[in-house]
Amino acid sequence: DTPYLVDRFGRVATDLRVSLIDKCNLRCTYCMPAEGLPWLKRTEMLDTEEMIRLIRLAVEELGVTTVRFTGGEPLLRQDLVDVITATTELTGRPKTSLTTNGINLGRYADQLARAGLDRVNISLDTLDPETFRELTRRDRMDDVLSGLDAAKSSGLEPVKVNAVLLRGVNDHEACDLLRFCLDRGYHLRFIEQMPLDPQHGWDREEMITADEILEILGTEFSLTPHSAERGSAPAERWLVDGGPATVGVIGSVTRPFCADCDRTRLTADGQLRSCLFSQTETNLREPLRAGADDGEIARLWRETMWAKAAGHGMDSEGFAQPSRPMSAIGG
Ligand code: GTP
Ligand code: 5AD
Ligand code: SF4
Repeated sequence: DTPYLVDRFGRVATDLRVSLIDKCNLRCTYCMPAEGLPWLKRTEMLDTEEMIRLIRLAVEELGVTTVRFTGGEPLLRQDLVDVITATTELTGRPKTSLTTNGINLGRYADQLARAGLDRVNISLDTLDPETFRELTRRDRMDDVLSGLDAAKSSGLEPVKVNAVLLRGVNDHEACDLLRFCLDRGYHLRFIEQMPLDPQHGWDREEMITADEILEILGTEFSLTPHSAERGSAPAERWLVDGGPATVGVIGSVTRPFCADCDRTRLTADGQLRSCLFSQTETNLREPLRAGADDGEIARLWRETMWAKAAGHGMDSEGFAQPSRPMSAIGG
């Protein structure tokens, strides 16, 4: 048994993504229906101690070096600061980051930084309050903007901004979003929409592709390839107007990066996934609650990752969307 999470294709998973909660305080149309989703029950969710035990195992026994907390919206989880503190106190001191919609960051950024959180990625798809209200079905744009400010002043840097472009909704704002981020020193990344919404509204023909994003940005900026090693990062980066500022494009659909994937995923209810698009999950909560020792859980984790598929298969015959929506997997 190696202490690493390796798969049949030679990839090593060193990046753990933990979905801490499936709930969210926004209702982005591409992610959730207006009425929300059937949320996990409290007893189904891992409690603080169970969550920390699995993160510790991943970091101290299985070679994980970076931990990202996601949701739903992770700032809705009451014990977030405790989980982050415990994670940054682990032997090996993993790098920690958080993917959030930013709404409650104004209130929590300082506390999170003090708990040892290294940085945050914040979602912002539009700068127009009316479009924000339509796209997220909530009137909270000002809270997100305050959250962005708070992240920066608390030193949770680099602050990355994630934007999903939707045709006819916010695609005309791409250049404005980039200018906004350049002015404030945020790293903007545009994301191709993936088929992960529970309403099955994703339409490949309608999706704004990486090529299209670059073409739109090219009308107002000059983009040149960034020479830095990309490694396993989902974002392809471009220097803006000669640099040093960059813009990223996450082309999951048209420019898949599965061959370099270094991720392993844990859901809020203690299910392990080897891929965002896995068709199967490994239940860690059950053995955990039945008293399994670390060795047994580690074995299940290694087996799950060994069975990881080569890629998401979005372009192959018989591709099926995972049964869990994005908000319950953690993106
Ligand atoms: P950084 O380390 O800051 O670059 O994080 P990240 O971009 O990996 O994380 P973030 O949570 O900000 O995710 C940005 C987008 O990338 C989201 O749409 C995620 O769903 C997507 N993403 C993250 N990991 C994967 C992955 O393994 N596969 C695919 N296809 N998309 C991913
Ligand atoms: N495809 C791509 N990105 C998505 N996000 C949410 N749903 C999807 C999807 N179907 C984005 C959010 C957030 C990031 C974590 O993932 O907008 O920025
Ligand atoms: Fe919430 Fe993120 Fe889904 Fe928007 S995309 S509803 S912010 S989980």
